[in-house]
Amino acid sequence: MTTSRIPGFYNLTLEERRARLAEAGKLDPDSLLPYAKGGLTPEAADHMIENVIGLHALPLGIGLNFIVNGRDVLVPMAIEEPSVVAGASFMAKLARAGGGFHATTSEPHMIGQIQVIGIPNINEARLKIYEHKDELLCEADSIDPVLNKFGGGARDLEVRMIESSPIGPFLVVHLIYDVRDAMGANAVNTACEKLAPQIEAITGGHVHLRILSNRADRRLARARCIIPLPELEMRRGGSSGTGKESESSTETHPYTGESVRDGILAAWAFAAADPYRAATHNKGIMNGVDAVVIATGNDWRAIEAGAHAYAAKDGRYTSLSTWGKDADGNLVGTLEMPMAVGIVGGATRVHPAAQTSVKLMGVKSAGELAEIIVSVGLAQNLAALRALATEGIQRGHMSLHARQVAIAAGATGDLIEKVAVQMVVEKVVRIDRAEEILKGMTN
Ligand code: MEV
Repeated sequence: MTTSRIPGFYNLTLEERRARLAEAGKLDPDSLLPYAKGGLTPEAADHMIENVIGLHALPLGIGLNFIVNGRDVLVPMAIEEPSVVAGASFMAKLARAGGGFHATTSEPHMIGQIQVIGIPNINEARLKIYEHKDELLCEADSIDPVLNKFGGGARDLEVRMIESSPIGPFLVVHLIYDVRDAMGANAVNTACEKLAPQIEAITGGHVHLRILSNRADRRLARARCIIPLPELEMRRGGSSGTGKESESSTETHPYTGESVRDGILAAWAFAAADPYRAATHNKGIMNGVDAVVIATGNDWRAIEAGAHAYAAKDGRYTSLSTWGKDADGNLVGTLEMPMAVGIVGGATRVHPAAQTSVKLMGVKSAGELAEIIVSVGLAQNLAALRALATEGIQRGHMSLHARQVAIAAGATGDLIEKVAVQMVVEKVVRIDRAEEILKGMTN
């Protein structure tokens, strides 16, 4: 069985980490080689977008300690920001003590929109579309036999009246499409285009836009976790919950489990009530979500668009997550958001590292992937709130950030760590200081 607990992973070399990962994930070590090589060749990239001149790489780290629906999962995360992978891993460890993450998804239903303008009688046209619903669904269903074979296809059709707009009233037909394990944009767009002539004939109007909606609120992923109160105590201190120091420092801190929990609840209340804070709070969630979405070759712009549209679904932008306590006083977190990810088609199939990531997580369906992603989002949110509610975010960030500053100042090899440590000790993490320290060390 896979284990996502790999103590000391941080201290290994890159090669040793890949070997331990293969062992923990019960994979052939060679199957992880796409990670070592960056995944994509320029030749393959040339087939993906236009005017290709090369590649743009991101670090790929592993989120550890995750249990999702009772299963240990090793989570690939592609991200440039320090502390995110460490933060998620540490919070997954706290959640592990409460049974890990429990996640579900709705059916993989996407929405396609067909805008109909210039209709002679809009009320009549709306009802006429409903009269032809069965034949329209049948037509939409026929566009992808492979999707049909796996149980996908057209599910429903709804007609919305936009009563007032800069061009006056018009109709919008919503085509609800079950896309199974695909992200679904291609199937839905094709189906919408296919229906256009019939809808024009039925309504006497003109079909204008035919395109998927990224407000994927029929394709939701939900996760919850319980953090037992003792896990919240910052008994060994020095911990923002975001870095390796969280497991190794011996400093003591006055944070009891109750005070950390209540601090997290007050931090969440801020995001729940204030859109300015909610934007940053949700950005923290997306740090985790996007990292896995990118690692699996999925469309993170679609996920971002869906998340923020969903956060404003009740007319006011708010937190995507909730935090509270159970009858025993343990911290309870939930997250629900649209999750239009696929494991077939698109970059997920073309990009060797994305394929490796899907294999590493052992996911067999897009729903399973969505359940992991939303769990990582919740863990990441907790990491940020816990840090913000206690010592602030900078402490955990600093040691990792200091290494980036040291590299920017020209440090290489062992000098990166030495310059970074010196800056952290001095509590001055700046490029000019890094350059001075480096000069002193190299002279
Ligand atoms: C930084 O990338 C993310 C945070 O700002 C999230 C938050 O404030 O909740 C730390």
